[in-house]
Amino acid sequence: MIEVEALAKRYGSFTAVRNLTFSVRPGEVLGLVGPNGAGKTTTLRCLSGIIPPTSGSVRVAGHDLSADPVSAKRALAFFPDEPRLFDYLTVRQHLAFVARIYGVADHESLATPLLQELELDGKADALPGELSRGMKQKLVIACGLLHSPSVMFFDEPLTGLDPLGIRRMKDSIVRRAQAGAAIVLSSHLLHLLEEVCTNVLILKKGEKVADGTLAGVSAQFSNGEAGVSLEEIFIRATGGSEG
Ligand SMILES: Nc1ncnc2c1ncn2[C@@H]1O[C@H](COP(=O)(O)OP(=O)(O)O)[C@@H](O)[C@H]1O
Ligand SMILES: [Mg+2]
Repeated sequence: MIEVEALAKRYGSFTAVRNLTFSVRPGEVLGLVGPNGAGKTTTLRCLSGIIPPTSGSVRVAGHDLSADPVSAKRALAFFPDEPRLFDYLTVRQHLAFVARIYGVADHESLATPLLQELELDGKADALPGELSRGMKQKLVIACGLLHSPSVMFFDEPLTGLDPLGIRRMKDSIVRRAQAGAAIVLSSHLLHLLEEVCTNVLILKKGEKVADGTLAGVSAQFSNGEAGVSLEEIFIRATGGSEG
């Protein structure tokens, strides 16, 4: 569903991501973790077709992202860490606009349950300036889910949400994976990632240091101890935070 082969991204002479290979199958939620600056956002932008990789290949839902970007992008949704919205469109108008871009028929009947799921149903006629940060984030997510993507990339989706918002977001992610979506999710909230992820990939300075099922990666870094948390594994795998 998501196949990444030898992905590399350089900014000028600086290599942000190198030789990254992994795949995510339908039903899997991959937690992408690593210290600040490890290359998580860069990776997610490359996988979504926002920025071109320097080398390597990305296939999304069977479509090569560079050879057939429109088909690949039709199947995916990218949820950036900074919500960007149109100042003069209301919540409902955002959904109508996105529906038109993606050619979603009958978006009215999809929009209503989506706004309920994301607790925005009371804000349908509000402009972004009248929304809290968490609500803006939820609107970005509603817009991304409207075309029913089978592949989803979330960059720090839980940051900035209140506890109930976090629980609902986790439930939404798990439910979509159970319905067959392939999902990549970056977060520093490791105790929350542990609850939603089936798999984990640890990045350090742009390179993969571990990748596999949660149990498999745990086994690799737990030295035989039982019940080692993902946080502890992260620290062992990355040698602590690097800013
Ligand atoms: N547009 C850019 N131009 C130059 N360097 C960048 C750019 N975007 C990110 N970087 C650098 O690439 C590295 C990885 O950044 P990023 O992917 O945002 O990391 P993360 O999301 O894991 O914190 C950092 O050193 C960052 O400064
Ligand atoms: Mg980032």
